[in-house]
Amino acid sequence: MILREKSICPWDKMRTASGTTGKGLAQAVSEALEAKLVDMEIRMFPDGDQYVRTKEDLKGETVVLVQSPFQDSGIVQHRLIQDSLKRAGAEKIISVAPYVSYSRQDKNFKQGEAVSAPIFIEWLSHGCDHLIVVDIHNPAVLEKMENVRNVIPHRSFARFIEGRADLVLAPDKGAIKRAKSVAEDLGVECDYLEKTRLSDRSVEIKTSDVDVSGKKVAIIDDIISTGGTMMEASRQLKLLGAEKVYGLATHGMFTEEDLEKLEMNMDLVSVTRSIETRVSDIDMSLELADVVRGL
Ligand code: R5P
Repeated sequence: MILREKSICPWDKMRTASGTTGKGLAQAVSEALEAKLVDMEIRMFPDGDQYVRTKEDLKGETVVLVQSPFQDSGIVQHRLIQDSLKRAGAEKIISVAPYVSYSRQDKNFKQGEAVSAPIFIEWLSHGCDHLIVVDIHNPAVLEKMENVRNVIPHRSFARFIEGRADLVLAPDKGAIKRAKSVAEDLGVECDYLEKTRLSDRSVEIKTSDVDVSGKKVAIIDDIISTGGTMMEASRQLKLLGAEKVYGLATHGMFTEEDLEKLEMNMDLVSVTRSIETRVSDIDMSLELADVVRGL
């Protein structure tokens, strides 16, 4: 048996940190890394600005910050925590930013629009040694950002749905890479649907010639937002005789009302804890811990 020698283990002096939201995922990653969360004070000044203080001496430590820069306040908080950890002596900061707000505006759709995705990811990358994002909407925005890595948690999807699906489908051609990785892990077939967006809430889905009759189908996407994509895909697949349709995605951005509608029309809806929801049952903490160890 090989025992880890304390002196040579690279993550021996590792600590973890979290923000005010998403503590469940931070705790799970801490357990996977066998690291202890740093004691921090995070509160609001009376004018609404955020105050962040690290209450420990972190001299020489590697600190893994796990917090989704979700919405304006989450982005600011992530950057302030990075700064606070550095000032407390952290030697190396690894930022795990599972969901980064603003990352869906990845190009100019109309003349004169701000392109938000690279702005905030780049800003966060300046506050750490490594930035790990999860299933970013368009990985092309990360080009030229050398210390940023995108993780597709396909092993976590596969572990979650193993034994329950015999076909994996991507809701559109652009989502095929993620679906293919999960299907390969599961050893089942994979295909994609043809999606045309009609409005913010509705899409048209056409099935290819894939046979779904009597099958248990897992649709895997990066985001469930209004639920329009999953809802229509499920409707079409059921019409074609699918026995079960499961809707899985990395990021759950839905309202409670939209989630309830989805749950009435699908056999299962589940997402990761990149944003904490009541269906965040896909645990990606082990996969994230592996990526951190591999840096
Ligand atoms: C689109 O490109 C994304 O991959 C998702 O399919 C989309 O964001 C899902 O949105 P909704 O749930 O509103 O259909």
